[in-house]
Amino acid sequence: MEKADLLLKVDEKYYPPQEIVEQAWIKDYESLYKQSIEDREGFYSKIAEELEWFQKWDKVLEWNYPYAKWFINGKTNITYNCIDRHVKNGKRNKVAFISIDEEGNEKKVTYGELLDLVSRLANGLKSLGIKKGDRVSIYMPNTVEAAIAMLACARIGAIHSVVFAGFSEGALKIRIDDAKAKAVITATYTKRRGKKIPLFPTVKEAIKDLDFVEKVILWDRDNELSEEYEEHNVVDFYKLIKNSSKDCPPEIQDAEDPLFILYTSGTTGKPKGVLHTTGGYMVNTYMTSKYVFDLKENDIYWCTADVGWITGHSYIVYGPLANGVTSIMMEGVPVYPHPGIWWEYVEKYGVNVFYTAPTAIRMLMRFGDEIPAKYDLSSLKVLGSVGEPINPEAWLWYYKNIGRGKAVIVDTWWQTETGAHMITTVPSYPAKPGKAGKPMFGIEVAVVDKQGNPMPPNQVGHLVIKNPWPSMLRTCWGEPERYEKYWNEIPGYYSAGDLAAIDEEGYIMVVGRADDVLSVAGHRIGTAEVESAIVENHAVTEAAVIGKPNEIKGESIKAFVILKEGYQPSEELKERIKDTVREVLGPIAVPDEIEFVDKLPKTRSGKIMRRLLKARELGLEIGDTSTLEE
Ligand code: PRX
Repeated sequence: MEKADLLLKVDEKYYPPQEIVEQAWIKDYESLYKQSIEDREGFYSKIAEELEWFQKWDKVLEWNYPYAKWFINGKTNITYNCIDRHVKNGKRNKVAFISIDEEGNEKKVTYGELLDLVSRLANGLKSLGIKKGDRVSIYMPNTVEAAIAMLACARIGAIHSVVFAGFSEGALKIRIDDAKAKAVITATYTKRRGKKIPLFPTVKEAIKDLDFVEKVILWDRDNELSEEYEEHNVVDFYKLIKNSSKDCPPEIQDAEDPLFILYTSGTTGKPKGVLHTTGGYMVNTYMTSKYVFDLKENDIYWCTADVGWITGHSYIVYGPLANGVTSIMMEGVPVYPHPGIWWEYVEKYGVNVFYTAPTAIRMLMRFGDEIPAKYDLSSLKVLGSVGEPINPEAWLWYYKNIGRGKAVIVDTWWQTETGAHMITTVPSYPAKPGKAGKPMFGIEVAVVDKQGNPMPPNQVGHLVIKNPWPSMLRTCWGEPERYEKYWNEIPGYYSAGDLAAIDEEGYIMVVGRADDVLSVAGHRIGTAEVESAIVENHAVTEAAVIGKPNEIKGESIKAFVILKEGYQPSEELKERIKDTVREVLGPIAVPDEIEFVDKLPKTRSGKIMRRLLKARELGLEIGDTSTLEE
């Protein structure tokens, strides 16, 4: 905990500029927070009333521990609130998305056009036999087409399951199979660093043995495929749009009807299908986008995440659209075609709110202050951070070189499971570098020991949430026991799986994961997932994976590998093992280091003690070894 102790000493406060406070939606966090806790249902109900419902709810919350229902009997459709509502209110010609590819080509889609495209695709999906409740996997580049695909599913009540396009065949297959998707929406390729990364061939391989997949809807980006590919149940994305009617009334969704499944890593090899439902998720992504980013009518907003992650779902698609702003979506990486590209676009489009991950900030820092200095970044007012703890050094760099001391930083802590921001400052009260801030409205958190007793201030313990909230996950797809585990680990509370500390002023610092989940470049990766990918290499009998602190990526992956009889350790074999992981899971999960060993430390019940491997690797105290087998 040395690093944590050091960070806890950082207690400097950065006050927001007066102009930001004066214009902020939330001027007095403390009093609204107090109100939101004293009358949680009243608070969320008022927010929900800002949106449109086909039928109003009779009751805000039904809490049947650990199962919650929000906005009971409320009927709505999230796409109606994200699109139709704005078109109806005079924003037909306002740009919803500016989607930029790696060459800098931009595609602007207005709210009116979005309504047209989403409705047509939704009708297209219906014509292919997809109906309410069916699952549709989406494996797409980070472009507006991905958002259109998600929204088209939501329009008809089909449950989307987006799979990050950086995952490879094995990871994709597990996710399509688990959700039993009836269709997959994909593209011929995505682009990274000027290179085309094929997607369609990966989908074809992944669904080879999955006969429940009836259709593939393909965005043929360069019109390079000949007509004949359509024979194999492949439908052209834009032809389907063109040939379908633009009149598609939104499906009347119950507040608790499923909206999407998003797979995320847990402590076992199999990812969990986190299920979010319609009403509560809509209300909370709307509220947090509005208050945390202080979104205003004319803001240009840019979240650099990929739609394949929860950040993309909540803060590229649903939250910003519910607020009716103009969003930028960019395909590619932060340093291509040059390491100033993000700042070039901030200047070009006059971005007001910018939301990214610490790993990207640390990477861009390395290129030097002169790069952002070349651009006019004076439009920025709120800078967000998400995905992993932001170290004070990166925080300060972001604050000085990007915000130029005139923008505030909101360090938002949340998870795939929480659906929306849970802990963060809001723009009107001071931030402390390295500390996320205070709980969002309606949210009560605590830092406790394993029995649930509160830790004294500044001491690290387990981060828990004490109450249900509207955008909480409702279950894990097909695995209710995994869902219940979140609420059973420390009885009475939702266990986030993170370690944190709270200071005397109530600012929360999130230190990192408490379990065997890694955070590599902000991506959540289970050690067990990587281990099972490694053992798919025929030379390997067993593997254990740990995370090591890494200056840029937060954590890097190290694997300890036991080879089968007859295989000799070699550098070449290490490379082949890495290739296996790349094929099974994707480039983000490839270990940086591999060490061949003869034995792995295990508990008497046979569980690998990764904690011991890590302590040895980092030269730390080994701690309690009473459960070690030998
Ligand atoms: O460990 C925390 C870290 O990311 C985890 C959630 O990962 P995922 O479900 O992939 O969602 C990431 C985007 C919301 C958390 O358990 N994490 C996320 N945000 C922060 C963070 N750690 C510290 N500070 C944050 N702001």
